[in-house]
Amino acid sequence: MRILTLSGSLRARSTNGALLHAAGSLATAEGTAVTTADIGGLPHFNPDLDGEGAVPPAPVAALRKSVAEADAVLIVSPEYAHGVPGVLKNALDWLVSSGEFIDRRVAVITASPNPAGGDYANTQLRETLRMMTGTVIDEACLMVGTVGARLDRDTGEITDPDLTTQLKAALKALTAP
Ligand SMILES: Cc1cc2nc3c(=O)[nH]c(=O)nc-3n(C[C@H](O)[C@H](O)[C@H](O)COP(=O)(O)O)c2cc1C
Repeated sequence: MRILTLSGSLRARSTNGALLHAAGSLATAEGTAVTTADIGGLPHFNPDLDGEGAVPPAPVAALRKSVAEADAVLIVSPEYAHGVPGVLKNALDWLVSSGEFIDRRVAVITASPNPAGGDYANTQLRETLRMMTGTVIDEACLMVGTVGARLDRDTGEITDPDLTTQLKAALKALTAP
C-alpha cells in the first residue's frame, strides 16, 4: 500500500502540514509507504499546455507519475476565504484531463483554528474529486476544528489523543482492502 500526500498549505509552520506529517508517521508505523508531492512549484494550469500531444512541464509530469503510482491519496488542507487554496486547486486542475485520479482512493482532511474545521473547503474538495471520478472515502475524511489547541505549538506533534484516534481511523478507512 502506497499513500501519496498533498498539502494545501505552503507555510513553514503549517498546522495542516503538521497533521500531514503525523498521518504519515502513523501510516508508516502500519507498514504503509508514504510520499509527499511538492505542489508549490507547479506552473499555473493552462489548457494550452495540456492538450493532446502536449509535453507537460516537468513538475506536472512528476506529479502525475506520483499519483499514478499511489494506491491512495491523502489531501490535507486549510480553507481560504471559504474555499480551496489556489495552490491545491491548481494541482488538481493539472490532474483533471490526464486521468490519474480515476478510481483512485482519496481522503480529504481540512484543519482550521475555526471550530468548523474548514467545512467549506472540505465539501468543495470532495465535490471536485468526485467530478474527477476519484473514489472519495467519506469515512476517511475529517474536518479538524480548533487545530492550534490540539497540536504542540513548537513541535507540531498532536497533543489531543482523540485526534490521533480519528487520524488512525481515517487512515484505516483509506487503506482498507
Ligand atoms: C487568506 C486566508 C484566508 C483564510 N480563510 C479562512 C476561512 O475561510 N476559514 C477558516 O476556517 N480559516 C481561514 N483562514 C485561517 C486559516 O485556517 C489559518 O491561517 C490556518 O492556520 C491555515 O492553515 P496552515 O496552518 O496549515 O497554514 C484563512 C487564512 C488566510 C491566510
